[in-house]
Amino acid sequence: MLSVDRWPRAPGAKGRDWWKEFAKGTPRHLDVASVEELDSNIKFSFIRAALFNKRSEAQKVALKLRGYSDRQESWEELDDIKEVFKFTKTEMSDYVMEHWKEDVFFGYQFLNGLNPTMIQKCTKIPPNFPVTEEMVARSLGDSTTLQKELEKGSIFIVDYRILEGISTGLNNDRQQYVAAPLCLLHLTAQEQLMPLAIQLSQTSGPEVPIFLPSDPEWDWILAKTWVHSADFQVHQTITHLLRTHLLAEVFAMATLRHLPMCHPLYKLLIPHMQYTFHINTLARERLISKGGVFDKASGIGYQGLVELLQKDLKALTYSSLCLPEDLEARGVSSLPNYYYKDDGLKIWVAVESFVSRIVDLYYTKDSDVWEDFEVQSWIHEIFTEGFLEQESTGIPSLFTTVKELKKFLTMVIYTCSAQHAAVNSGQFDFGAWMPNFPPSMRKPPPMDKGMANLKDYKDTLPEINTTCTILSTLWLLSAKPIDMIPLGKYPDEHFTEPAPKMLIAAFGHDLQKISTEIKKRNESLSNKLPVGYEYLYPPEIENSVSI
Ligand code: FE2
Repeated sequence: MLSVDRWPRAPGAKGRDWWKEFAKGTPRHLDVASVEELDSNIKFSFIRAALFNKRSEAQKVALKLRGYSDRQESWEELDDIKEVFKFTKTEMSDYVMEHWKEDVFFGYQFLNGLNPTMIQKCTKIPPNFPVTEEMVARSLGDSTTLQKELEKGSIFIVDYRILEGISTGLNNDRQQYVAAPLCLLHLTAQEQLMPLAIQLSQTSGPEVPIFLPSDPEWDWILAKTWVHSADFQVHQTITHLLRTHLLAEVFAMATLRHLPMCHPLYKLLIPHMQYTFHINTLARERLISKGGVFDKASGIGYQGLVELLQKDLKALTYSSLCLPEDLEARGVSSLPNYYYKDDGLKIWVAVESFVSRIVDLYYTKDSDVWEDFEVQSWIHEIFTEGFLEQESTGIPSLFTTVKELKKFLTMVIYTCSAQHAAVNSGQFDFGAWMPNFPPSMRKPPPMDKGMANLKDYKDTLPEINTTCTILSTLWLLSAKPIDMIPLGKYPDEHFTEPAPKMLIAAFGHDLQKISTEIKKRNESLSNKLPVGYEYLYPPEIENSVSI
């Protein structure tokens, strides 16, 4: 029987149980109530903590001084939103403000925006989303049909069905609304991903219009905004919180509890876990707890957040955490201009090669893995505490081969570094223009066409104070930390032997090569995009989930 309590090196308060439940059916986490209780060796560095607190306070004071914090009314003019964060804008946030209404940019964001993991190939129109040939004929043109494009593999779908039935919250004591939309997209001959149709419910019917690009302007803008708002809930709760932050903490907990400091896998993994306990404890203190920022300013509130975490953890698969398998399963491996995919695959391969060569130094045959009871305890606890012993996830509860060990370690390092960077770093870029990433909606989804207008649109988007609460948080979480350690840099030198040190150097070389390729690609994009796709540019990827 594997022991799960072999290593009593508690990172948190002494005399406490290690694991705590955030909510039933969600990954367990370190049992501390505040960052004050964390041991100094896992807290933010002094300089990082000071800057984080300064930024946090400075934003609050600035918003208060400008009189935004207490205003519970709608934005008078959409352009007023630009004023809130005009001193912290980025090239990309400027671009979003200019291009947010364009269909081509709407499609682009499913590939290279904040939540690039939703899009999948559509080979058959789902029965609950009855898009007809007639509806999309104008978008597709005379030379083709929907059926032909489906057969060609040029039709894609984004389905937010996971939001169906999720509780909604109250902002400023008023009821909020969330939709579970479906969006059909077409990859054009010019390799642009263009929206064809949007339905804001999982159930079709007379009161559930299928919105089209040819609809009146505000109907179509409102429909796209509903999709963005659904994307906010899924991105923040699932793609970002659950699938990077919470899993990274599970990996870090198991590493500290089961791998001694002299263990080669401790040396390999620990740099990818720096500050994870601190940022996640802060998140539980301020952001995701009852009464926290997410509860007060998102559409689903605390209760909806818990339900969504439970629902996704239940459905989560190991495959979906492994980029090559995830892309294959979604049928998007050959989608053009999908830089999240292109850059991510290169980094995955580099991490895999590094991990593989490190593992080969210490495990020459499968029995070396079976006999390493420390690593077996490690994976067993991840399976138990993180994935709640759900065999349906495909997460191993023990390792039987060296190959399995390599794959899992690759997934852990990729998740804690590149995947987190891809879904974290652009939060302010894409969210600063709030209509592009609305945290909530104040009116229910439209039941008819021809009803939307600018006034109605502004009364549906979040109020001034809710907007400011979310924007200041997105800004804080996207701001580059002062002592960031990029992927592949290991200043603490846990490995001291020449062989692993050479492999670290080779990993750095591989990442350097990828950086050069990305830089060159981005330069060639400069006429299409303001800054190219930089979220997976290795010098900008932090080694760990720390913000
Ligand atoms: Fe993050």
